[in-house]
Amino acid sequence: MADLQPIIQIDLLMEELETLAQISEADPPVVTRVVFSGADLRARIHVKELCREAGLSIREDAVGNTFIRWEGLEPSLAPVATGSHIDAIPNAGAYDGVVGVLGGLEAIRSLQRAGYQPRRPIELIVFTSEEPTRFGIGCLGSRMMGGVLTPDHAHTLHDKHGHSLEVLRTEAGFLGDLTSVMLAPGHFHAFVELHIEQGALLEREGLDIGAVTHIAAPASLKVEIEGEGGHAGAMLMPDRHDALCAASELILALEAAAKSTGTLDSVATVGICEVFPGAVNSVPSKVRLETDIRDTDGARRDSVIATMKSAADEISVRRGVQISFQTVNADPPATCNPIIVEAVEKAAATSGLSCRTLVSRAYHDSLFVARFAPVGMIFIPCRGGVSHRPDEYSSPEWIAGGVEVLARTLAFLAG
Ligand code: GLV
Ligand code: MN
Ligand code: MN
Repeated sequence: MADLQPIIQIDLLMEELETLAQISEADPPVVTRVVFSGADLRARIHVKELCREAGLSIREDAVGNTFIRWEGLEPSLAPVATGSHIDAIPNAGAYDGVVGVLGGLEAIRSLQRAGYQPRRPIELIVFTSEEPTRFGIGCLGSRMMGGVLTPDHAHTLHDKHGHSLEVLRTEAGFLGDLTSVMLAPGHFHAFVELHIEQGALLEREGLDIGAVTHIAAPASLKVEIEGEGGHAGAMLMPDRHDALCAASELILALEAAAKSTGTLDSVATVGICEVFPGAVNSVPSKVRLETDIRDTDGARRDSVIATMKSAADEISVRRGVQISFQTVNADPPATCNPIIVEAVEKAAATSGLSCRTLVSRAYHDSLFVARFAPVGMIFIPCRGGVSHRPDEYSSPEWIAGGVEVLARTLAFLAG
């Protein structure tokens, strides 16, 4: 593979990234592309058009995961796959996920331009709803592919307006039985995802490429706190069972639990807090929180959850409120395949790029593809480590480096 020279057209790719960023529910530079929204559906059409122009064939499954195929010399062999997501959380930027999709397409085109013919098929996957925005659970498409989210569970999912996944996917044109989404072990020979780091390690160390060895274990729990409401002027302080005051203590207890593990690998966030009835002159009677708790070590992540729950017991008794938890997901961490990690490191060396191994603290579709295929991830730097914000940025040089390493890794794996 050392003599293979992928021919990357970085200006074309940067233009394509810019064009896709304009397909948004918010005004530029803000990207908001929630799954099955008009913007998501328009973005899917746009990406598929670019793939058809490259001579690739397209198949979609029942939940909208899209398989874009470059046929191999031996079509019956299991494909080598790459890809990521194009949905974006509210108020996001232009690179999260998208670099792995359009960069994956450019990696394929760069190999086509170089005259390379893969022995195995190479597939570019666009996963449905990596972001949890609409249905409250991350990696919907890859989670179903990996059999972690069952069709029965998927049938219970609704968005905040009460629209079911079932209706929304059908309206988006994705038909068929959800049981067909799950893929068997061996379906992919290997899977490699290109992604921005979403952290500042590579940039800080002046490195071009991160070869991911592990993906941290994410969990999400919904919390309901029920107290007693009343008149904000008339209800005396000793008589109160204020749900928001209880929630505030719980949020701080969770923060303290994550800080107390003795490692920076434990993180916890409360990103959603809904207060009922939400009137300035009314004591909050009910609060709904959504928590996000992660660690590279699954057992340590679970111990943070346990500490939060015992804090809740204590707060509940002391304040006279009810606190209940619903686990949305508590996934184990994933280990990348050592052969793929080494292939990424070698591809970086061949490309003349600097590289280190690192851990992914964000979750990715690779976490669930790892349930049925060997996976690897290629990280590239992003400015200041900023992500999930409109000012997210990765330079053309960083992106071109990632695409070259991806192209070489795909070519090595596809034979
Ligand atoms: C993915 O977007 C994550 O939150 O890690
Ligand atoms: Mn994201
Ligand atoms: Mn992402």
